[in-house]
Amino acid sequence: MLRDDVRRVWPELDWIEDQDLREKTTDCWVRAFELSPLTPDDLDQIPFTLKVEGCPVSFLAHKRLVVHVSRDSGRKIEEFMGDALAVDMDVLIAGAILADVGKLLEYEHADAGGTQQSPRGKYLRHPFTGVSLAMECGLPDAVSHIVATHAGEGNMVARTTEAWIIHHADFMTYEPFVKRLEV
Ligand SMILES: [Fe+2]
Repeated sequence: MLRDDVRRVWPELDWIEDQDLREKTTDCWVRAFELSPLTPDDLDQIPFTLKVEGCPVSFLAHKRLVVHVSRDSGRKIEEFMGDALAVDMDVLIAGAILADVGKLLEYEHADAGGTQQSPRGKYLRHPFTGVSLAMECGLPDAVSHIVATHAGEGNMVARTTEAWIIHHADFMTYEPFVKRLEV
């Protein structure tokens, strides 16, 4: 049931060619919903970030956009650079789908309506809880690395090519909402 909901909100799961990786990526979202106060239907309603007041884009729209931008970018890198900058497309897509899975443990419904950061989310932002979920579900370390490093925390370490692509896909569609030059 929950698994069907995950497949419904994430049609991009079908892009993962390796069946084992596709199932584990699905497992991870199922596990996150089991532990979260949020439901699959909430994802169309809640904002993709709490750092933009009155955020006009939903969680699901932004997260799916990052997967699409990442896949398109990976394909173009492959087309123009070939082996010079190899991209593992399955790891890229699974990592993009899972980058923000930990937000299901970082966000909660606010009493006054809307969405807020949970006490757990204050202690452990979503890259940390996301890695915990990914490891519990048996995802490869190359995918957990993407979850760990996709956001600002990852600026402290070296990223894989796939993690760099997802970091930029994520931030190029977030930063204009927080520091866009208005002329
Ligand atoms: Fe994130």
